[in-house]
Amino acid sequence: MNKKVLITGGAGYIGSHAAVTFLEAGYDVVILDNFSNGSADTVRRVEDISKRGLRLIEGDIRDKSCLHQIFSENEVYAVLHFAGLKSVAESVSDPLRYYENNVAGTVFLCEAMEEANVRRLVFSSSATVYGDPVENPVSERCLTGKLSSPYGRSKSMVEEVLQDIAAAKPAWHIAILRYFNPAGAHPSGLIGESPNGPPNNLIPYISQVAAGWRDVLRVFGDDYPTPDGTGVRDYIHVQDLAEGHLSALEAINKRAGLHIWNLGTGRGYSVLEVIRAFEIASGRSINFEIERRRLGDVAECWADPTKAQMELNWKANRSLTEMMTDAWRWQKNSLPSA
Ligand code: NAD
Ligand code: UFG
Repeated sequence: MNKKVLITGGAGYIGSHAAVTFLEAGYDVVILDNFSNGSADTVRRVEDISKRGLRLIEGDIRDKSCLHQIFSENEVYAVLHFAGLKSVAESVSDPLRYYENNVAGTVFLCEAMEEANVRRLVFSSSATVYGDPVENPVSERCLTGKLSSPYGRSKSMVEEVLQDIAAAKPAWHIAILRYFNPAGAHPSGLIGESPNGPPNNLIPYISQVAAGWRDVLRVFGDDYPTPDGTGVRDYIHVQDLAEGHLSALEAINKRAGLHIWNLGTGRGYSVLEVIRAFEIASGRSINFEIERRRLGDVAECWADPTKAQMELNWKANRSLTEMMTDAWRWQKNSLPSA
């Protein structure tokens, strides 16, 4: 019998790519999503790509009876926990919603797992927990810094909750994955990132300018202490990220306790380099203007991915060009949302 994973937030951007990866690797998949930022259509596309069926449950991680029912009806081997709210700006204006959904929601999920004797968990954390990193590349040993948003603090708080669970309950196997900047889409062009309204993140914004949905990209600052003055980030292909989850689950299966891994490429690119790469991949020119720095942004943040490479036998292989090509293919297949 195949092992079954519960994927919370599996109708969203990263969770849907992970669902394809796990189905293709022979796992059975149950997705729990409340569709606050995902859709049943995405899940149908996951089935089309992988040519396998899965169970989709519309529900909420904060709904104890829904969780209880899922764990009693399914023999769940592990949980991949993607469900969460992710807008930095929204978290500043509505912090309670972020703490309730991301922190309390995770606590409910862990309680239900404990009750059901399901103790393997892979959690979507973020490089945002490093704040303004004291050094680059950033290794997992770097102190987590002063955080500039409730979103970042919600990730950091969940990390602490999970540390406490692991310390109190040695039967748990927990992977905390700190993603750098996820980008790109599945090469089929069937699933990708679909922001509601104007995108906050660089690559979806560039894609929409290239497609003519938006007039101009605002580049937030060209006076950072970086080679061309624009912000430097570690963009990682969402497919590489999804594969990192498979490797992480295999690794924690062999080792109990809590483990933290950076998922990044180890290479930083500036905003101007990303724009150029997108122009080449799409054959379109990107209209941009330099603006003031965005509040809360750091000059640079890129990963030391050595720990994941050594312990997970995983490496991000896909290039910036592949990320841009796949993001553009997905963009061309998308319809405007707002
Ligand atoms: P996404 O919004 O596309 O996917 C999240 C999914 O979770 C959505 O389908 C949404 O409907 C669902 N969801 C939200 N709250 C829920 C709840 N209470 N119950 C059930 N479902 C719920 O986001 P994503 O980009 O795929 O991110 C996935 C995870 O990775 C998030 O936890 C996010 O914070 C984290 N992360 C994302 C990035 C990024 O840049 N995309 C970077 C670092 C970490
Ligand atoms: N940028 C622009 N114009 C835009 C959007 C972004 O110039 O319209 C710049 C930013 O200033 C930054 C770079 O592009 O220098 C990347 O910005 P993103 O918003 O794409 O990504 P961030 O690094 O700010 O944050 C992302 C996620 C966070 C996550 C973090 C680390 O949005 O949720 O990566 O994983 F925490």
